[in-house]
Amino acid sequence: MDQRNLPIGVMDSGSGGISVLREAVKVLPRESFIYYGDHGNAPYGVKEPEEIRALTWKVVSFLRERGIKALLVACNTASSAALEMLRSRLEIPVLGMEPAVKPALSRHEDGVVVVMATQATLEQERFHHMLDSFHNPEWVVPLPCVGLMELVEGGHFRDRTIREYLTGLFAPFGGRRIEAVVLGCTHYPFVKEAIRDILGDVTLVDGNEGTVHHLKHVLESRGLDTSRRTAGTVEYHSSSADPDTLAFLKRLMETP
Ligand code: SIN
Repeated sequence: MDQRNLPIGVMDSGSGGISVLREAVKVLPRESFIYYGDHGNAPYGVKEPEEIRALTWKVVSFLRERGIKALLVACNTASSAALEMLRSRLEIPVLGMEPAVKPALSRHEDGVVVVMATQATLEQERFHHMLDSFHNPEWVVPLPCVGLMELVEGGHFRDRTIREYLTGLFAPFGGRRIEAVVLGCTHYPFVKEAIRDILGDVTLVDGNEGTVHHLKHVLESRGLDTSRRTAGTVEYHSSSADPDTLAFLKRLMETP
């Protein structure tokens, strides 16, 4: 098969990567994708880096066996822990996620910029390197969101449960003005509206659009963009034994 017409592998610890896949299908409608959610081993965000790397490698091995021309790690936690390892082992382009702190800072006027992410993402060297490169501005506040991934997986996008969680999460900020919130986990775009319900008119920044445009550029510059003239396909896989998981992924794809 012409390598250009192989699918792009997309992986996440669960369903959050769908927020990136939705964007990818919009920008690259003729490409095909294979999505793998490692629901059976989620969450990654509370695990040690070594375990995250081992789990990520297992998922990537599955995707490689299916035949993929590029890999998109649509999971901030797996990107933080495993991107370097994947790039050193794979001959195909590997793209990952990074909390979109830069665009949030470029608009900063006053107030704090909160970076929501998993504990593992915020503890990794990769995140600290990035903050160092911006000279650690004191108005950037990392906020570990333990348990938020599980609420999203449970379908709590804008109900009382998620509002109570977010109210507690942001309570320590008291009267401090929050100017922008960086969504540093691909699960969090699904609760954008709930965040606005709690914080009001705040700028929410995720890295999805930037990552997908980068993917498009990488494919084109390496001559790997599809030669297909018709719409591509999307295939879903999960390590979960729950038969509803794949239906949930497909439903999320349709969520505006
Ligand atoms: C998790 O598995 O804990 C969240 C995944 C992410 O960081 O995107």
